[in-house]
Amino acid sequence: MSENPRPDVKIRIEHLNVRYSDGTESLHDISMDIYTHQINVLFGPSGGGKSTLLRMLNRLNDLADVSEQEGRILLDGENVLARDYDVLQLRRRLGIVFARPVPLPMSIYENVIYGLRLAGVRDKQQLDATVERALKQGALWDEVSDRLSDSAYDLSGGQQQRLCVARSLALQPEVIMLDEPTSGLDPISTFKVEQTLQQLKRDYTIVIVPHSVQQAARIADWAAFFLQGDLIEWDEGRQLFTDPQDQRTEDYITGRFG
Ligand SMILES: Nc1ncnc2c1ncn2[C@@H]1O[C@H](COP(=O)(O)OP(=O)(O)OP(=O)(O)O)[C@@H](O)[C@H]1O
Ligand SMILES: [Mg+2]
Repeated sequence: MSENPRPDVKIRIEHLNVRYSDGTESLHDISMDIYTHQINVLFGPSGGGKSTLLRMLNRLNDLADVSEQEGRILLDGENVLARDYDVLQLRRRLGIVFARPVPLPMSIYENVIYGLRLAGVRDKQQLDATVERALKQGALWDEVSDRLSDSAYDLSGGQQQRLCVARSLALQPEVIMLDEPTSGLDPISTFKVEQTLQQLKRDYTIVIVPHSVQQAARIADWAAFFLQGDLIEWDEGRQLFTDPQDQRTEDYITGRFG
C-alpha cells in the first residue's frame, strides 16, 4: 500500500460475504473503500464477483437470488444493507450504467429525462436545463443538440452509451457505477467514454468494472483485483499496475492467466 494520504471515503465495505441460493459463494470477506471524486476500478477474471459487488452497493441483489449476506456497506457512514434503509433513495444516489446501452424507444430528449418524468417533474424549463446539463456532462451535447427529438435508436453504440450515462446523471446521483460500459464499443467510442469519466470524477464518485486490464490501468485512480470472490489486492492504480504486491495480481496483469 502506498504512503500518500487517502482521499475521503464515500463507501466503506466491511467484511462483506455474499452467497447465492444455489450455494455459489460469490464474495468472500471483502473489505475496501470507494473514494470520493476518484475512479475506483474493480477488475479481474470472469466470475470474480465484480458485478455482484456493484449490485450489492445499490441493493439490486434484493431482486436476485442472494440467500446469505453478511457485513456492512457504509455510504457516508450509513449501512445500506440495513433492512429499513430507503432503497429508492439509495438508487437515486448511486446511478448504474450497464454493459450494453439500453436506450428506451423514445427521443434522445425523453431518454435523458425519463427518471425525472417518473418522479413527476413537469416544469419544461427545468427539464430542458437538465437535458442540456446531463448531455454536456455525458460529453454528448455537441453531437446531438440539434436533434434532441430524434429517436435514441438513431445514435451509434458509443453515443447510446453516453446517452445512458447522461440519463443516469440527470438524476444527480453522487456515485456512478458502470459495469463494463465500453465492452461493445470501438476504440474511438471507448476513448470518448474514458475521457468523459475523467471529467465526471470532478463532480461524482466513479466505480467502474473495466472491460480489459489495459483499460483498468489507463483509468484507475484506485484499483481492486478480484479473483473467485476474494479481494486479492487493492491499492492506488499506479502502484498496483506497476508494482503489484501479490503474485496472482502480477500474473493477471501481465497476461499469464485470465
Ligand atoms: N443470480 C445468480 N445466481 C447464482 N449465482 C450467481 C448469480 N449471479 C452471479 N452468480 C455467480 O457468482 C459469481 C460471481 O459472479 P459475477 O457476475 O459477480 O462475476 P463478475 O466478476 O462480474 O464476472 P464477469 O467478468 O464475467 O462479468 C460467479 O460464480 C457467478 O456464477
Ligand atoms: Mg460482471
